[in-house]
Amino acid sequence: MTVHFVGVGPGAPDLLTLRGRDIIAAAPVCLYAGSLIPEAILAFAPPGARLVNSAPLTLDEIMTVIGEAHARGEDIARLHSGDLSVWSAMGEQIRRLEQLGVPYTVTPGVPSFAAAAAALGAELTLPGLSQSVVLTRASGRASPVPGAEALAAFAATGATLAIHLSIHVLDNVVAELLPHYGPDCPAAVVWRASGPNECIVRAPLGRLAAAVGADPERTALILVGHTLGARDFADSRLYAADYDRRFRPIGPSPRFPEGA
Ligand SMILES: C[S@@+](CC[C@H](N)C(=O)[O-])C[C@H]1O[C@@H](n2cnc3c(N)ncnc32)[C@H](O)[C@@H]1O
Repeated sequence: MTVHFVGVGPGAPDLLTLRGRDIIAAAPVCLYAGSLIPEAILAFAPPGARLVNSAPLTLDEIMTVIGEAHARGEDIARLHSGDLSVWSAMGEQIRRLEQLGVPYTVTPGVPSFAAAAAALGAELTLPGLSQSVVLTRASGRASPVPGAEALAAFAATGATLAIHLSIHVLDNVVAELLPHYGPDCPAAVVWRASGPNECIVRAPLGRLAAAVGADPERTALILVGHTLGARDFADSRLYAADYDRRFRPIGPSPRFPEGA
């Protein structure tokens, strides 16, 4: 018996990986993380599969579901939204599984920041503007952010920020970022990226909170950075006609001669 953790992507069922779909289709038990997992993905479960929503369960209760399946020798597809490497609570489950000697696998998914960038048609790393993307969040009741990771600390680098789990404190987020990015810096909020009700608000940072309005829906990413919508940046060297590289040797004595 194995617990298969699957990142099911940001919402669109056709962004589920083929591997993830096959795991769901073969597992007699599907333990899924609440409303962020679309019905269309649960529909890949085989007829008669036991579908368990983990949203109202405690970690102990989740482990009980896993323990019962283990006793029956049944594999579990354990579904989380987006990718598993960020804000999935997979770490604490894996720690328990290792203590119990229960085997597990991990199948990655499309993360929500990538779906939000796609919705904006944006490359988040552009030559001369930013070469880093910070996946972060504002401090929350359930998960305080370590002091050294305050938004202002990342903002001081000028990197492109993808701020999760923070739309409810958008005013605070903007106030922390303004001194570093300035009011004209491009920003956007993307709700339910890739899903049927995807919604986008673009505004300069100084006007973002007003553009979003009061009491916004929670499944949203805030993106801030000079890369968003930028058109005034240098081409990358990768495709420059005079750039001598392994796959396109140039000149009488290329750095990487063909066949070398
Ligand atoms: C518990 S975290 C899960 C993150 C997920 N593991 C990932 O890879 O993106 C939930 C937060 O991710 C963001 N999020 C998840 N799915 C989203 C989507 N489809 N569109 C916009 N934001 C999303 C929101 O900030 C939401 O509050």
